[in-house]
Amino acid sequence: MKKLRVALIGTGNIGETHITRYEANPNVEIAAVCDIDAEKLNKFADKHNIEARFTSVDEMLASVELDAADVCVWNCSHAECTIAALNAGLNVLCEKPMAMTAAEAQEMKDTADKNGKLLMLGFVTRFSNQSRIAKDFIDNGYLGNIYYTKATYVRRHGNPGGWFSDKSRSGGGPIIDIGVHPLDLTRYLMGNPKPVSVYCVAANELHEDRANLKTHVGWAPEGADPKKDVCDVESSAVGIIRYENGASTLLECSYSLHDGRSTQDGGNGRILYGTKGGLNLDTMMYYTDVNGFMVNSEIKDVDNYNEAKEGFRAEIDHFVDCCLNGTKCISPAEDGVVIMKILEGLYESARTGKSVDII
Ligand SMILES: NC(=O)c1ccc[n+]([C@@H]2O[C@H](COP(=O)([O-])OP(=O)(O)OC[C@H]3O[C@@H](n4cnc5c(N)ncnc54)[C@H](O)[C@@H]3O)[C@@H](O)[C@H]2O)c1
Repeated sequence: MKKLRVALIGTGNIGETHITRYEANPNVEIAAVCDIDAEKLNKFADKHNIEARFTSVDEMLASVELDAADVCVWNCSHAECTIAALNAGLNVLCEKPMAMTAAEAQEMKDTADKNGKLLMLGFVTRFSNQSRIAKDFIDNGYLGNIYYTKATYVRRHGNPGGWFSDKSRSGGGPIIDIGVHPLDLTRYLMGNPKPVSVYCVAANELHEDRANLKTHVGWAPEGADPKKDVCDVESSAVGIIRYENGASTLLECSYSLHDGRSTQDGGNGRILYGTKGGLNLDTMMYYTDVNGFMVNSEIKDVDNYNEAKEGFRAEIDHFVDCCLNGTKCISPAEDGVVIMKILEGLYESARTGKSVDII
């Protein structure tokens, strides 16, 4: 079987996570890597034994024969790198969030369609065992009509600094960075309903207190210093998303809540409420009525579900499968565009104090 020749664009934290999953897939050859930071690029390429290394995406696309690209760069460069790769005839996996704006996201999707190429979004939580078990419950009718969901992702340690706190590179704080995960997952599990309006309140508290903590976020970008780095993003937000089918989602996200749920790596709370049952994706508790009694059931052996694949591994393997075998993608560009519209609406609502219609 011909191997998929993949280029990895962006050799930072998530680039490292992705490459180890490609290395574990026997149908992939990492044919080139690219990063604008030559020092990081060389360190990464040496570690992973990759000859073809570039500091310019265009130069890489012009020099190497490739089938696919994986875009793992700052949010501000998702559109530029993705569009260049699609126009070079490659299938693309792009990390979340899709882009900085809904217009950019739409242009990325249009470019994929124009070139007849796949544009998959790295919505990794769709690929976790918890999500796949939830989907199984939903598909078999155990939740009934899901009319309300909670989408929570809260951290306590503060903004990590670096590009995360610089709006010109990130597009925003926890709404676009981590809120995007439960927002996408709950919408996906509800069957991707059409959003009609959003309302959001954002806070800008605790940046300084968190920067002065004596312990640090373990995964902060190399060289980041929250005490010195520019910080012009929100620190927390709460939002409501209303869908056309009458369902709603309550979003809560933060980098810096004084809250026991939150840890350095994130306190999640993804809960689905349906007419036949409720499901908490973090505790894997299922709630329903049996024989006129309220019953709480714990789903066991979550880690042993199906092929027991961890999220990033399942995501990368799915992308490779879609590229090589034409398998239908479960995380397509059209979903990324809708999520970008919701994110943009949340920011507009937080800024104006008004509900925003999603068109
Ligand atoms: N799915 C997840 O759970 C998850 C987790 C972490 C990060 N991410 C996403 O991955 C992306 C990268 O995050 P990170 O934490 O790896 O950041 P990072 O700073 O560690 O790495 C990003 C790299 O991209 C490079 N870069 C920036 N613009 C570029 C361009 N135009 N061309 C080539 N290289 C460029 C930077 O030099 C840097 O080395 C972000 O979009 C982030 O939202 C997703």
